[in-house]
Amino acid sequence: MKFSKFGQKFTQPTGISQLMDDLGDALKSDQPINMLGGGNPAKIDAVNELFLETYKALGNDNDTGEANSSAIISMANYSNPQGDAGFIDALVSFFNRHYDWNLTSENIALTNGSQNAFFYLFNLFGGAFLDEKSQDKESQSIDKSILLPLTPEYIGYSDVHVEGQHFAAVLPHIDEVTHDGDEGFFKYRVDFEALENLPALREGRIGAICCSRPTNPTGNVLTDEEMAHLAEIAKRYDIPLIIDNAYGMPFPNIIYSDAHLNWDNNTILCFSLSKIGLPGMRTGIIVADAKVIEAVSAMNAVVNLAPTRFGAAIATPLVNDDRIKQLADNEIKPFYQKQATLAVKLLKEALGDYPLMIHKPEGAIFLWLWFKDLPISTSELYEILKEKGTLIVPSEYFFPGVDVSNYQHAHECIRMSIAADEQTLIDGIKAIGEVVCKLYDEANSQNY
Ligand SMILES: Cc1ncc(COP(=O)(O)O)c(C=O)c1O
Repeated sequence: MKFSKFGQKFTQPTGISQLMDDLGDALKSDQPINMLGGGNPAKIDAVNELFLETYKALGNDNDTGEANSSAIISMANYSNPQGDAGFIDALVSFFNRHYDWNLTSENIALTNGSQNAFFYLFNLFGGAFLDEKSQDKESQSIDKSILLPLTPEYIGYSDVHVEGQHFAAVLPHIDEVTHDGDEGFFKYRVDFEALENLPALREGRIGAICCSRPTNPTGNVLTDEEMAHLAEIAKRYDIPLIIDNAYGMPFPNIIYSDAHLNWDNNTILCFSLSKIGLPGMRTGIIVADAKVIEAVSAMNAVVNLAPTRFGAAIATPLVNDDRIKQLADNEIKPFYQKQATLAVKLLKEALGDYPLMIHKPEGAIFLWLWFKDLPISTSELYEILKEKGTLIVPSEYFFPGVDVSNYQHAHECIRMSIAADEQTLIDGIKAIGEVVCKLYDEANSQNY
């Protein structure tokens, strides 16, 4: 059987497909696995209880005892392609209540998870554009890229373009910083000089700027100043700034640094219900100018007819009375902050004086570890650890748009999830420590 070019592109092995396969295999395996590799959110009792309670109440918002509650009626019908109108109205009030953005229902569309949103947005703003300056409008096209101002970035962006890859990426400034008064940490910062000098930006070959904040994989939170600077550049070049807020405020609010969230007509904000604990609901939320929302709705109609309504049914009451925000502030954020503190402590114990640097944990559900001058690549380290029953993700996949063959740092880091239970963190970090220390020891003994 032969596949089209489109088929071949989407069936070739990718970083994301390897990650999802390993994750799935680990969950099915009868061997104990220290799962520090996936992006699954943690099982938090208070969170699961609230969702279960809300789920059970779905059928009971009338007093007839029949299965005709508003939620059941909504789930038994397609929404329009923009998404469940009741949930969109609840979100409009919620965001205006908390942020004063003056949104209307024309500013919000739903998607089947935010991964689905990035598929749409990166293909809307990246790829072949008609070249408006060209004499022959039909045949001349210009190729535009999505500008990632700070790589490493989310692995899931890499392969979403329907044809080719359209990224321009900027490598980070690496600053050594302290964390809670301790040494051994670093923080990535946007290299604005390199960004402003990118030929693709200056020559009109960038279609949008995008960053995840907090960042998957690093747990970095771009500062308010960095965001304001990016917003200014986006406006100057008349391109949108896409902010991937999958871990950001106001839900799930896994963010420990002092940061604020802004929106205007040139900003496209992407939210998700996944990291509050509902990844199986596949619900993404886009807040944007009405023109973008119209485009996303049109794409929804072709690809999905309409987005799923189950996540909307569960989340609507929680958005209406702000319980979603309370859950994020009182349960989800403190949970991950505690996990990050524990994981840092375990790592420091396991690695002692070996050259471990940790990206300052500022948010998201991961730690990003840098083993400077590790004698093997972290892709090889991944294989060794997988053999020993511990899953992490090697860094090379997190550099969309970068030729990592000439960038040593991209082979020296790993992403580890902190969503696992305490025993898994203890066992997994112990395994990482043993393997990494041995590798450094062997390299040192050969140098003598
Ligand atoms: C930064 C980031 N963006 C987007 C997504 C996609 O999430 P979902 O499609 O579940 O909303 C993820 C998932 O891990 C993520 O980490």
